[in-house]
Amino acid sequence: MKKFVVGNFKMNTTPTQFGSYLDEFLPRIRESKTNIIFCLPATHFHIANQRLSTTNIKFGAQNISSEESGAYTGEISSVMVKDCGAFCTLVGHSETRRHFKETAESINQKIIRALAVNLKVILCVGETKYERSTKKTKLSLKRQLDIALKGLYENELKNIIIAYEPIWAIGTGKTPNVKEVESAITDIKSIISDSFSIRDYDKITILYGGSINENNFTQFVKIKGVSGLLVGGACLNPKSFANICK
Ligand code: PGA
Repeated sequence: MKKFVVGNFKMNTTPTQFGSYLDEFLPRIRESKTNIIFCLPATHFHIANQRLSTTNIKFGAQNISSEESGAYTGEISSVMVKDCGAFCTLVGHSETRRHFKETAESINQKIIRALAVNLKVILCVGETKYERSTKKTKLSLKRQLDIALKGLYENELKNIIIAYEPIWAIGTGKTPNVKEVESAITDIKSIISDSFSIRDYDKITILYGGSINENNFTQFVKIKGVSGLLVGGACLNPKSFANICK
């Protein structure tokens, strides 16, 4: 199965800088067999749509509104994102949970909105340092997954990619070890398959994210059950990101 590499730009680069980024990035990955996705600020969508439509690379949003439309100044809806040519949206990133007070219920609502307009979802889940140190990782993952996926049908799961991102590993340079990732992946699969009575675990696509860079990515991508990577800081350098994608 082709691996996924998702680059999360967060609030970095201007649209002009993103154009120059693509000038450097695209020639480097011509032969790449990876599923590459950029999660971009909405200001970059028009450039992504123009420049990526002739490639296999897809782009998506970093967040969407939990509302359909109306008086929500500053928000961007799922249908707006879809109409710009996006393939997916991130939902439940720890930064949107923290800075924008996203709740588990609003995350569930966002997922339902995204799926309704055929946007795929990359749902981020992960434990805090405290939860890990008090052996509550599985409990925390279960709480996040149960509410986020509430009310969905089993056949909608194929449109959802789970990104396992320990909160303490995001942007810190710290990563879990291989065993810790393996065990979190097993937990995520068993939580989802229990709720949806899925027998075939392998149908659930799970990425690892958190302080991935050019020097450490191979150990994570090789972990059983890991279908790819969600890369933040390291995706901003077109050379490094191309090397990871290749
Ligand atoms: P990082 O971010 O790679 O900079 O740790 C990952 C993410 O936030 O998705």
